[in-house]
Amino acid sequence: MTPALEALVAATETALADPSLTNDRDRAEAISPAMAALLDDPIPIPNEARQSLDGLAVGNLLYADPTARFHLLAVVFPEGTSSGVHHHGCWGVIGYLNGSDEETRYRAVRDDGDRAELEEVSRHRWTKGDITYLIPPHDGWHRVKSAGPGDGVSVHVLCRTPLEHPHRFWDRSSGAVLPYPFVEAAPGRFRAEVTGLS
Ligand SMILES: [Fe+2]
Repeated sequence: MTPALEALVAATETALADPSLTNDRDRAEAISPAMAALLDDPIPIPNEARQSLDGLAVGNLLYADPTARFHLLAVVFPEGTSSGVHHHGCWGVIGYLNGSDEETRYRAVRDDGDRAELEEVSRHRWTKGDITYLIPPHDGWHRVKSAGPGDGVSVHVLCRTPLEHPHRFWDRSSGAVLPYPFVEAAPGRFRAEVTGLS
């Protein structure tokens, strides 16, 4: 843990415990200044957390709340890789550290849990210093594509634990929505893997 990460954890704990913050967006905005400070810090995260998993996208665990309310990941997308379209079922705060991320957001015209119809609502290219939120159900669908230069590295504060974070994948060709759980591919290193894709 770097001092900037410790401050981000403390800010998240404070936001989650603050009774005056009554919704996920207000809590995300309360966490955001500590994320901004981390992104501006000369040593924001340990260097080893910037590593891909032998060239594959990975989420390197930076911190897990002992009461399972949230966790921090350094998400590494090698240049040119994409996440596919997916949904986060609970809140998140994302800050961009390296490279860039072409993020497409979608609106669910219909979402039955295992089938969905989505339409694109926005497209942004995020770079170092930018912060975005995941606020489901409406702001939960997106796709990220690492547009370089270099690996895309972003810090995610995400609800629950990696293994309990609700994550679903949209198969654009069939409209099917499939589980997309984080799987611990190596100690403290998580990959989202689609289950049931035909
Ligand atoms: Fe995502």
